[in-house]
Amino acid sequence: MAGVGQLRGETMRLILLGPPGVGKGTQAQFLMDRLGAIQLSTGDLLRAAVREGTELGKDAKRYMDAGELVPDDVILGLIGEKMTELKDQAVIFDGFPRTVAQAEGLDKLMGELGQEINNALELVVDDQVVIDRLSSRRSCPQCGAVFNLISAPPKVENVCDTCGHVGLIQRDDDKPDVIANRLRVYHEQTAPVADYYRGKGNLVQTDGLGTVDEVRGRVFEALSL
Ligand code: AP5
Repeated sequence: MAGVGQLRGETMRLILLGPPGVGKGTQAQFLMDRLGAIQLSTGDLLRAAVREGTELGKDAKRYMDAGELVPDDVILGLIGEKMTELKDQAVIFDGFPRTVAQAEGLDKLMGELGQEINNALELVVDDQVVIDRLSSRRSCPQCGAVFNLISAPPKVENVCDTCGHVGLIQRDDDKPDVIANRLRVYHEQTAPVADYYRGKGNLVQTDGLGTVDEVRGRVFEALSL
């Protein structure tokens, strides 16, 4: 029997859209479990390249630290490599595409691979919610688990629930002036991506306000999962 990740015989390829800090990564974890899918987060791939000190990571870091977007050709190159490796695996794209040019590049790649996007799900909240969530986000530098000092604190202060690492960190781009720029960039360059998928008839919008569980319920309902 086909798994949920292969609904109607198709392999699920889902895009998560929404402003920085809306909860894309948080909801991607639930969707991965439900769909048996891989999460493909361009932010995580770039942060890994920065940690490893690769040339790509060194170039990307200056854009990320300023809250600007990494150039489209770099991002499309990364995604192209990953999608070729993943073949028929169900995929959740988190934080990609971020520009209309990236969305067009993804369509081209999907065509070359004989694949297609099923849905683009946009989580919607206002800017103040984003600022509050990002200012209180902490993450584990060892395993990448994400916490929130207000809505999702670790069980033991400053200790990762997942791997036990002591010393949770605040991302460099979660500082107030960088958050403000990420929001500006989002409204100027990424918000039009939702219109791109609306035009194709596969945009689904969900309110991102409320507890993590409430949002999860709405996301699953919107996708009929
Ligand atoms: P990226 O890592 O993609 O950052 P982002 O889109 O800004 O998204 P975040 O990871 O900040 O937030 P999220 O929506 O996943 O929220 P989360 O679940 O963590 O990108 C970083 C940078 O990389 C970019 O600025 C750019 O430079 C570069 N980049 C990446 N992709 C690129 C691309 N395609 N093109 C060009 N450049 C690219 O939740 C946030 C917090 O809120 C957490 O603390 C969480 O616990 C909490 N939370 C979640 N849900 C709730 C809830 N319902 N209620 C209360 N708290 C909640």
